[in-house]
Amino acid sequence: MLAYIDGTALEVQCGETILEAARRLGRDIPTLCEFAPLGHRPGTCRMCLAEITRKDGSVTISTTCDTKLEDGMRVRTRTSEVREARRRQMMRLFADHCENCSSCARHGSCELQSLAKKVGLTLPARSGRLDPHRPGPDRSAPALVFDASKCIRCLRCVEACRQLQGIGAITLQGRGTRAAVGFDGQPWGESDRCIQCGQCSLVCPTGAISVKDETERALDLLASPKVMTVVQIAPAARIALAEAVGAPSGTNLEGQLVAGLKAAGADLVCDARWSADVTILEEGTELLERLRRQKEAGTLDKPDTMFTSCCPGWINHVEKSAPDMIPHISSTRSPQAIFGALAKTWLAQTRRLKPEQIAVISIMPCTAKKDEASRRLLEHDGKTDVDLVLTVRETALLFERCGLDILKMEPRGFDSPFMTEASGAAQLFATTGGVMEAALRTVAALSGGPKLGGIAFTPVRGLANVREAEVETAEFGKIRIAAAYGIPSAEAIVKLVREGRSPYHFVEVMACPGGCIGGGGTAREGFGREKLLKRQETVYRTDAEMPIHCSHENPEVVRLYRDFLEKPGSHLAHELLHCTYEDRSKEAECPSFEALVKAGALLKG
Ligand code: SF4
Ligand code: SF4
Ligand code: SF4
Ligand code: FES
Repeated sequence: MLAYIDGTALEVQCGETILEAARRLGRDIPTLCEFAPLGHRPGTCRMCLAEITRKDGSVTISTTCDTKLEDGMRVRTRTSEVREARRRQMMRLFADHCENCSSCARHGSCELQSLAKKVGLTLPARSGRLDPHRPGPDRSAPALVFDASKCIRCLRCVEACRQLQGIGAITLQGRGTRAAVGFDGQPWGESDRCIQCGQCSLVCPTGAISVKDETERALDLLASPKVMTVVQIAPAARIALAEAVGAPSGTNLEGQLVAGLKAAGADLVCDARWSADVTILEEGTELLERLRRQKEAGTLDKPDTMFTSCCPGWINHVEKSAPDMIPHISSTRSPQAIFGALAKTWLAQTRRLKPEQIAVISIMPCTAKKDEASRRLLEHDGKTDVDLVLTVRETALLFERCGLDILKMEPRGFDSPFMTEASGAAQLFATTGGVMEAALRTVAALSGGPKLGGIAFTPVRGLANVREAEVETAEFGKIRIAAAYGIPSAEAIVKLVREGRSPYHFVEVMACPGGCIGGGGTAREGFGREKLLKRQETVYRTDAEMPIHCSHENPEVVRLYRDFLEKPGSHLAHELLHCTYEDRSKEAECPSFEALVKAGALLKG
């Protein structure tokens, strides 16, 4: 069976759309709502038009993303009628779009602007004419901003939230020209489901969903002579930055990133892998204590599952939608929070500075880390430990604003000797299964088992949504573990725990695809499985190349416990490096009848 696209014959493949067939031929048809990595083609933008002549002689100008290629079909993608139809459709999109492009978060990287150029839009846009009364940007969420006036209703965000996180925090509301995506009719910050993972911000083609930009505040801090700026770089950030600065996927830009931050004015550039090693000591100690309690009670065969706590997206989900899991979550704070707490105490003491003279800036692949840094539960003495979080995309923008091309800079090492030395185990935090592998290397060694350090613990590696394994330990015999990413995968394990059927002693959860390498703050150009695999390969290679492979063997971590914290799980360690969680489910916010009576809010009969 043959069909023709712009005169070129091609074999018709079962179920293939005209758009897919055209791409197979190397032909580009303009698209906007379609998003291939998620198999998303809602047919809402109507930009992918082409002239289609069927075998029966009928001729139409139709969308190609949702029309199947048929035997004998002749498709023409460049006729003047087709080009004019696309231009008219583009005008309609712009008529409903607030066009303050020069101050838009996506200026220079907007898919709508690129498409306008591609279709040859010439007429002046009539911005926002269809609905001039739309509300201004919604800035109520901790990490993300929604500007309805830039939304072109492509529904990519709806699909990302539903497909990747199974959360459905964004839905399409309203009808006709008033139809828009929203958050159950509430401001975003009041969503009882959104976990601030930022996956929606990765797929939005316009400036409708963007990360709260803190580059200006970062520039102020970096230039201030009143504070010492201490920057921490997350394990994934050095790898997930590549596409944002024009390097090939999977390039580890650690040295260039350090050089760029120093050139931008950072006083100390340190490594959040160091605090990831500290995390392992604290979380590993917690796990050992939990396992010992189960051994004493003779319940090791009916595990009291412990979940990891270093992903704030996952913690948001637990607090908002699965608060009954709070007793199962490790109390150890995330590496970012641990770094902040130790920078404002240990480092401050060592440098004879007051905590307020230190400003901690985090370079993260993650939008939820912005949320985490602002949480009241993570403050000490009413002050935040992390002053500012820049996502990878903001970091690329910071360099652009400073006029720094980090790819041309000589790579530099971290500032030493504090908070910089790291093990390969800590590098693994960048990807799904990595926290688990890092913890197992230390727990297996500390509980007298065979040494796992330096060898790949392959059962938890890769990009399958859930991976599980058994580990032989001298003290507890076999323990069962699992690593999952994406909230739907985590929920499957939550269900087992709830029903008392969980076979796992320890479970790692990361919210984003592939873990932090696929975080909502990473480069948009890195979206999709192929790029994730490249980033993941670099994570494993970096671990293999590092001289130390176990967190408990990191000499700087050993020094921290010797000189400051005394031992993992000590009183001071608990005070600084652990936290509690709160039930933020909407039901919990609804006061009981008795509480209302007590507060005098109800008249007693
Ligand atoms: S931040 Fe994550 S959970 Fe929230 S709306 Fe976006 S994709 Fe959904
Ligand atoms: S917010 Fe962005 S991704 Fe979501 S429908 Fe609007 S334009 Fe599309
Ligand atoms: S997986 Fe990583 S990037 Fe994604 S929300 Fe969790 S910590 Fe952030
Ligand atoms: S890409 Fe086909 S309708 Fe949007």
